[in-house]
Amino acid sequence: MDKRILLIISGGIAAYKALFLIRVLSKRGIATRVILTRGGAEFVTPLSAGALSGDTVYGDLWNLTDEAEMGHIELSRSADLVVVAPATADIMAKAAHGIANDLATTTLLATDKRVMFVPAMNVRMWEAPATQRNIETLRQDGSLIIGPDAGAMACGEFGEGRMSEPEDIADAIEHALAGHTTLDALRGPKPLLGKHALVTAGPTREAIDPVRYLSNHSSGKQGYAIAKNLQALGAKVTLVSGPVSIDAPLGVNLVKVETAQDMLSACQAALPADVFVSVAAVADWRPSVTADKKIKKGQSGLPPLILEENPDILKTLSNLKVGRPKLVVGFAAETNDVAAHAQAKRLKKGCDWIVANDVSGDVMGGDHNTMIVIDAKGAETWPRLTKMDAAQKLALKIAERL
Ligand code: C5P
Repeated sequence: MDKRILLIISGGIAAYKALFLIRVLSKRGIATRVILTRGGAEFVTPLSAGALSGDTVYGDLWNLTDEAEMGHIELSRSADLVVVAPATADIMAKAAHGIANDLATTTLLATDKRVMFVPAMNVRMWEAPATQRNIETLRQDGSLIIGPDAGAMACGEFGEGRMSEPEDIADAIEHALAGHTTLDALRGPKPLLGKHALVTAGPTREAIDPVRYLSNHSSGKQGYAIAKNLQALGAKVTLVSGPVSIDAPLGVNLVKVETAQDMLSACQAALPADVFVSVAAVADWRPSVTADKKIKKGQSGLPPLILEENPDILKTLSNLKVGRPKLVVGFAAETNDVAAHAQAKRLKKGCDWIVANDVSGDVMGGDHNTMIVIDAKGAETWPRLTKMDAAQKLALKIAERL
């Protein structure tokens, strides 16, 4: 499991649902490490939390053995996301005010990771002005809040205050682990239902011989994020991807390719599409011959590397006479005069929009991007965002246009 959350189970009757959450997350390949507060331990046992998570359950700040094995600071940093479920009014009040008087609250104050609170309490406690003030403070501090749901409650009353269901919490956790800083896209409407989106991503590889190739540093992160966000808005998505080391987003139809020529064929085979988003960093050239055996060193000097041009996938699909996607979006990686070069590229390729990014920094392979979206009318510069948030903004703009 390559992602881990730190789950703080605080004292509420919904604590039993936190045990289900551990199971659901583990099925989705997400590991859980548990802190059980004193209140939490009144509802579920360290034994069940430990058996389900397959890890030590931490409970008391002053436990010398635990503190020697993993200090509370280390514990707070050992996960990709901290989740408090159930989050009682008490633990949220403490977190909102920076009170740190046990392991859970100390961890919340010490963490450098995003925190997600999953409130669960009686409806009156939830509606109390103090709780609402604290929730607002936590939100402003960058925490994510999921739920509470409305319905019948264990205390016999009815209203808002029930903890969200484990599957919904797991969706929100996956969403946050993917780099989103809000949960908006999860809850929103599905304006792209019935639409087909074709997205290319990653680099291509052009073989020199069976062991060597020409390629580039594209990680595929931006294209995968766009595919996922189009899918979140209800689109059926075909993602044609060159070789990358990231996992395909769930629910997206992934077509793996190696070369630019294969990528073009896969795109043509995937048509018709309502929108084509060409994010892939396609190799401009390929060796004009690929040796069928490994080229030996030093036999007759340096081997000649003669290149020929690859097909331009974006240009080809933009200029289709029949079956051109209604909206064609290209990407332009530039290092200088970004907007001017990108506008020229839009016209040259014949696409509707060009998304320009300045790749002079750490965009390639990094987690952030600053996009300039260019259409026939002009340019719109977006702030520096995570690739996931930038992808969401672009997907929403696409949905608006379609
Ligand atoms: O020409 P340049 O590579 O700068 O253009 C970038 C845009 O064109 C990107 O959208 C990229 O996916 C697309 N492209 C393509 N086929 C190529 C080269 C680039 O689809 N052979």
